[in-house]
Amino acid sequence: MSQTATARAHSNIAFIKYWGSSDHQLRLPANASLSMNLDRLHTTTTVQWSADCASDSVNINGRPANDLARRRVSRHLQLLRGRFGTNKFAQVQSQNNFPMGAGLASSASAFAALTLAAAAALGERPSERELSALARRGSGSAARSIPFGYVEWFAADSHEQSYAETFVDADYWELVDVIAVVSRAHKRVGSTAGHATADTSILQKTRIEDAPRRLHEVKQAIIKRNFARFAQAVEEDSNLMHAVMMTSRPALFYWQPTSLAVMNAVRQWREADGIQVCSTLDAGPNVHCICAKDDAETVKTRLGELSDAIEIIAAAAGPGAFVLDKDMRKP
Ligand code: DP6
Repeated sequence: MSQTATARAHSNIAFIKYWGSSDHQLRLPANASLSMNLDRLHTTTTVQWSADCASDSVNINGRPANDLARRRVSRHLQLLRGRFGTNKFAQVQSQNNFPMGAGLASSASAFAALTLAAAAALGERPSERELSALARRGSGSAARSIPFGYVEWFAADSHEQSYAETFVDADYWELVDVIAVVSRAHKRVGSTAGHATADTSILQKTRIEDAPRRLHEVKQAIIKRNFARFAQAVEEDSNLMHAVMMTSRPALFYWQPTSLAVMNAVRQWREADGIQVCSTLDAGPNVHCICAKDDAETVKTRLGELSDAIEIIAAAAGPGAFVLDKDMRKP
């Protein structure tokens, strides 16, 4: 019997960021975070467990994965073999519909889809909570790509307690992430290495201590659909994370001149022109312009006018991870 399943998971953008871990092995975050799944950006992954394979094989976007990616996926499969009680190896085929390694969080959707497909292929149906905690072990932010809509990921000191769950449904507040793709280049220092150096910044302790306040602000802003309050907390949180990055040893600078130009323009559009938009950046130079749905077209047009070096991708709040119908499977 073929033990195959295909699952899809969406990328997410964090409004309160995960940066630094209390346990690197278990990927337990130093602070709780909150994000929105992105409906337009997803990874579709097929896992086939087979008694005939002598090792795991990993194919990403139609090509064999490089050694680093294959080892990381294989390590995650090893964890799942232990959890689901199989000693078979797996063939993994993964397809992203967006550029990898450009700060668009491909590891979040990738490890969420992989975890769900691997479980489903074995006929396993773990709870959403357990799936989220398992996905976290592959990539921290993948925990947030399992539940739907706006998602909170809890910081805790055990594997079981650090999982993500839906805060509010995707249609509770119709925000759009208009992404200014400033560079498609693969980032030089990835998030995993970055988390490991976060504590070398003298600002990290302060950032972590204040995280519950910022999280509270963003949650209240979402509940009340208060954009001004939301923008203040989201930009402050992103800037704080980048301040930590810039003051770590070695220092990490993800912003590029175009990133800064977009961030400044966004603030001016909000403060001078009353457009409901704010900015946030992950571990890359691309600027996520989070805006009210009614302002999304204006933001797209203005970004286009700012520089022709910018490619624009827009995504609304999206669904959680799900198993695809057999007929929809892609090879
Ligand atoms: C800046 O989840 O990519 O995007 O656990 O090492 O895979 P690993 O890190 P990852 O870190 C995400 C960092 C971030 C902020 C965020 O998404 O919360």
